[in-house]
Amino acid sequence: MASAPVDPPLFYSRHIFCCTNVRPAGHPRGCCSAGGSEKLRAYMREKAKALGIENIRVNASGCLDRCELGPNMVIYPEGVWYHYDSTQDVDEILQKHLIEGGRVERLMLQPDQK
Ligand code: FES
Repeated sequence: MASAPVDPPLFYSRHIFCCTNVRPAGHPRGCCSAGGSEKLRAYMREKAKALGIENIRVNASGCLDRCELGPNMVIYPEGVWYHYDSTQDVDEILQKHLIEGGRVERLMLQPDQK
């Protein structure tokens, strides 16, 4: 029987991917950038710094393939997905999820949501 793999410690305590994919206006699937994801990602990055949240990374990502639910982000290692569309939503995710270790249930995406 193979032994269980031993992973190295996490490099970032949280790694956040915010989809900033751009599609042409009128595309049937839409895109996260149409909902302001580029500005909101930049806001999240700066606000996290201002709050002193260390050892995280807020990356822009390509399409996460849940476009109809966007703008979307996913936070690892938890693998929790959020829809967000305002700076207030970002503030709540930073405070509740990243600082307090809780969840913003009203914004969470479930696996069966498409
Ligand atoms: S465009 Fe953002 S998930 Fe596809």
